[in-house]
Amino acid sequence: MLESIFGKKIDFNELRKDFTVLERKINEKPIIYFDNACMSLRPKQVIKKMNEYYNKFPGCAGRSNHTISEEVNKAVNEARENIAKFFSAKAEAVVFTKNCTEAINLVANAFPFENGDVVLTTDKEHNSNLIPWLKLQKEWKIKHDIIESGPKNEFSVDNLISKLNEHKGKVKLVSVVYTSNLDGVTNPVKDIIRICHKHKVKVLLDCAQAALHHEINIKKLDADFIAVSAHKIIGPNGIGALISTKENLEMLNQFMVGGETVTDSSYESYTPEKIPEKFEAGLQNYPGIIGFGAATKYLENITVKNIQKQIVKLNEIATSVISEISGIEILGPKGADKRSGVISFVIKDKQVHEVSLLLNNTYNIMVRSGAHCVHSWFNKDKNKESVFKDGTVRASFSFYNTEEEVQQFVQAVKEISEL
Ligand code: ALA
Repeated sequence: MLESIFGKKIDFNELRKDFTVLERKINEKPIIYFDNACMSLRPKQVIKKMNEYYNKFPGCAGRSNHTISEEVNKAVNEARENIAKFFSAKAEAVVFTKNCTEAINLVANAFPFENGDVVLTTDKEHNSNLIPWLKLQKEWKIKHDIIESGPKNEFSVDNLISKLNEHKGKVKLVSVVYTSNLDGVTNPVKDIIRICHKHKVKVLLDCAQAALHHEINIKKLDADFIAVSAHKIIGPNGIGALISTKENLEMLNQFMVGGETVTDSSYESYTPEKIPEKFEAGLQNYPGIIGFGAATKYLENITVKNIQKQIVKLNEIATSVISEISGIEILGPKGADKRSGVISFVIKDKQVHEVSLLLNNTYNIMVRSGAHCVHSWFNKDKNKESVFKDGTVRASFSFYNTEEEVQQFVQAVKEISEL
């Protein structure tokens, strides 16, 4: 049990009951789900809200004026308000997208880049925050450059500053991951934003993982754009958001256009809608939006601070045992508190996919193995000979996991390492 900021007791074992999938057994044994960095589980409160849409008011928003449509309008507006509040943004600055990837693609395609402009990313980005920039570069629309990590594989502020100086006046956007899906390490985003703003450079944060691990207050961070996916924060699939400010969204060009992105059109021209609708083309994923709103409400009651404490506690238990097993190397810093809910590792002489399959088939423990969509990092010259060259086995914890599950996991890893 933990005290929330409101003095309310948080009983994580009680909350676990909201996640009905955890009652599931395979081969008469409970499942242990440690693939939360890929996809979180959803509580029944979120599923119920989404079902309400299909059962009671399965219409469209922003178009027809009948009762069912008005109910969709109300539910979508309420969800937008809840999501905005969760990130301390204004509702008008929440643009719905399919996921975090689409939010980054929206900025990539809508930012008013000019010939010769430079975009910087780190050398440890998920493909979602690398490929959109490589594609623009291939189309001669920008130049993309990398901020190399420092000697300990951590973000280097010095390297950021030297890149800003190298491309003096040309860098228009720095797009970085807040918390890495690969090793759970959090970048010093406040410093990054402060330095970039001093150089008049905008900052986009890939918050796919961070949204469940850090309280994200866009105002306090002073971030220009943040990209999130609902499925990482106990919300539905197929919905995410680009969250920003009025000024920054108004600076963007329209990208995808069509129904609802205009107020009027003729055979020759059209009048764009106001923000955020000018970016939300076509009928939207209304049950997804409603479920996303319900997820943020659910999390607000627990508070992200409490979630973070619980997840790090689980990771500390896992780390203390796994780091002592001979032949195992953990990717990233030694301390679990530096890796949020992620423990990414290799076992000497064992293939990573073989380990994850053994964990699944023998112990019902579900993890992910491989490059975790960060192929470029593994393909870096200096990593080609490292023990991590074929990727890692990654366990990622969430607040509905238990210490007993972690104990079973470390025991299973120990047994596999001895095979
Ligand atoms: N980004 C997701 C992961 O790391 C897909 O698993």
